[in-house]
Amino acid sequence: MGRIPIQASSATSVTIEGRELLAFGGCNYVGLAHHPDVRMALRESVEVLGLSTTASRETTGNTTTHEALERELAAFMGFESAILTPEGYTANMALAQTLTEEFAVAIVDARSHRSVTHALTAAGLSVILFEHLNASKAAELVAQHSDRGVVIYTDGVFAADGSVAPVDRLLSALPSHGLLVVDDCHGLCVMGPGGRGTCRHFGVSDDRVCVTTTLGKGLGCYGGAILGPKSRIQRVQQESGVYRGTTPVPPPIALAARAALRVLEREPSLIDRLRANTDQMRAGLIALGLPILGDRVPIFTFALEPESRMDVVQSRLFDEGLLAPVIEYPGTAHSRFFRITVTAHHSHAQIDRLLAALRGAMNP
Ligand SMILES: Cc1ncc(COP(=O)(O)O)c(C=O)c1O
Repeated sequence: MGRIPIQASSATSVTIEGRELLAFGGCNYVGLAHHPDVRMALRESVEVLGLSTTASRETTGNTTTHEALERELAAFMGFESAILTPEGYTANMALAQTLTEEFAVAIVDARSHRSVTHALTAAGLSVILFEHLNASKAAELVAQHSDRGVVIYTDGVFAADGSVAPVDRLLSALPSHGLLVVDDCHGLCVMGPGGRGTCRHFGVSDDRVCVTTTLGKGLGCYGGAILGPKSRIQRVQQESGVYRGTTPVPPPIALAARAALRVLEREPSLIDRLRANTDQMRAGLIALGLPILGDRVPIFTFALEPESRMDVVQSRLFDEGLLAPVIEYPGTAHSRFFRITVTAHHSHAQIDRLLAALRGAMNP
């Protein structure tokens, strides 16, 4: 199908070529990109601060909105401090730029997001991959290289296969002077109490842990952040060229992200609904005989053989008014695969409709 030209969207639908489809794709897991409070915050802030700071934070582009968002995000996810970056991708770049004095080797889950390996190699660390999710292999590599200073990197939730990293066991593998970095772009708003992320899910709280994340997926906004102990965040502020040399998240988006956090705090039932919908979709896909990994996240990926069958199934679903996207993305054993997601706003009946249509399309 290629790139999809979306004309309009809601938390559960997209309009393509004038047709509204019931959609099961993307990462708007709790529908915050369309929440009325989030949209209102954006509109109000445009009136007060305009669209862009037009300068980097450390020159003349800092606002009280950015500072407040950093405090609130850190408090929400349970970290001492946070700093915003233009995107999740640049969060990984900015943090990596500050690590080379202490760490020479990065031990990285083999299916981590490409921004992780890109950031680490650009910063000059040696990257050694460990088998996906295998904390014992990570521990072996740490033992081999700990005299050079090691940092372990993993995604919290893997976007491409829906698996969850063993963050607690990775932390146990770390030497006392090591660092664990969790890219939690897909864990925020999904994992942990009230969607507070994968570290909170595992009860991990340690000065040797940093999180990088995006504001552009679960929070429904745009931008990135690094969270961790104050000393590490200060180093990013003082030393990272990626942070210091970029225009920040537009203030209206930063205010929208603050509103999104408030919605999550006020309405933890959103996360409960997301989890109930995750359970329903997962059980239904497994009943169809599909090899679904994981049990906690609203991301379901699978490939059909031969590959052309996926296009046939996808276009049958499309004809029935359903978007269940086949995507091309690194991070699984397949180059192309179905990546179906469910949100807190899908109804029981809508999920059943997709499952019934999928059954029909796979068994014509
Ligand atoms: C795991 C992971 N890390 C980083 C990023 C980059 O985030 P952003 O889109 O905010 O740059 C993504 C987005 O696709 C992601 O899935």
